[in-house]
Amino acid sequence: MSTVLITGANRGLGLEFCRQYAEQGWDVLACCRNPEQAGELTQLVSHNSAVRVFKMDVSDRKMIGILAEDLVEFTIDLIIANAGVYGDRRGHEFGNLDYADWINTLETNVMGVVKVIEAFMPGLKRSQKPRIAVLSSQMGSIEDNSSGGSFLYRSSKAALNATMKSLSIDLKSDDIAVLVFHPGWVKTDMGGTQALIDAKTSVTGMIKQISHVEMSQTGQFVKYDGTQLPW
Ligand SMILES: NC(=O)c1ccc[n+]([C@@H]2O[C@H](COP(=O)([O-])OP(=O)(O)OC[C@H]3O[C@@H](n4cnc5c(N)ncnc54)[C@H](OP(=O)(O)O)[C@@H]3O)[C@@H](O)[C@H]2O)c1
Repeated sequence: MSTVLITGANRGLGLEFCRQYAEQGWDVLACCRNPEQAGELTQLVSHNSAVRVFKMDVSDRKMIGILAEDLVEFTIDLIIANAGVYGDRRGHEFGNLDYADWINTLETNVMGVVKVIEAFMPGLKRSQKPRIAVLSSQMGSIEDNSSGGSFLYRSSKAALNATMKSLSIDLKSDDIAVLVFHPGWVKTDMGGTQALIDAKTSVTGMIKQISHVEMSQTGQFVKYDGTQLPW
């Protein structure tokens, strides 16, 4: 049986990843910052014993390290670094920037992702086919930016893209594939009700891409349906 570790597992795309991997018979290590308030995830656990919930705030690097030590015996076949924040929408525009929130956005969306991967690397290295999937955004693409604004979110996802590109090169010798996703514009709390697709469509697409990924594709920036995106 394969094991996946998912961050931000309590709602939105993270919860849908938990549902679909559990349905496919994977062991799911579902990490979220407030397990006691994760109603839908708790419901999923009550129907599926292969889903286990762990407390993890990805902006708390010490907490990540402690959890990784607790789970050191686990072989991890896949890390889904999904947890992310948009940042305070009022503090996004030049002239009215909220620098404290910008730091929090970078700590969550960039350092949090890198720290999770770094902390769980021993478990990943024991897998026969280790893979890392990271939830970035097309808004992190510098080439695709034609509308400006959204400094906090765009800069965090651009930085995430840069670090994941480097990581994909650094991990080639360990045969660990890294995929960087734009999940589409998805109907979640972050995407809002006007979004174009639902979480099920997005996650079904990403799981398909993850299941097919070969080392020749490591370091690619792709949409949920496999379309390649410009950095
Ligand atoms: N929806 C879209 O259209 C869209 C488009 C492009 C990219 N994305 C990316 O896809 C990922 C998932 O987005 P979503 O739409 O599912 O967003 P969402 O509905 O807002 O859910 C965000 C998830 O991240 C978790 N999270 C935030 N900060 C965290 C922290 N410090 N520690 C642990 N968990 C934390 C949240 O937990 P809490 O409940 O505790 O807050 C929640 O589980 C994000 O990285 C996002 O940037 C989404």
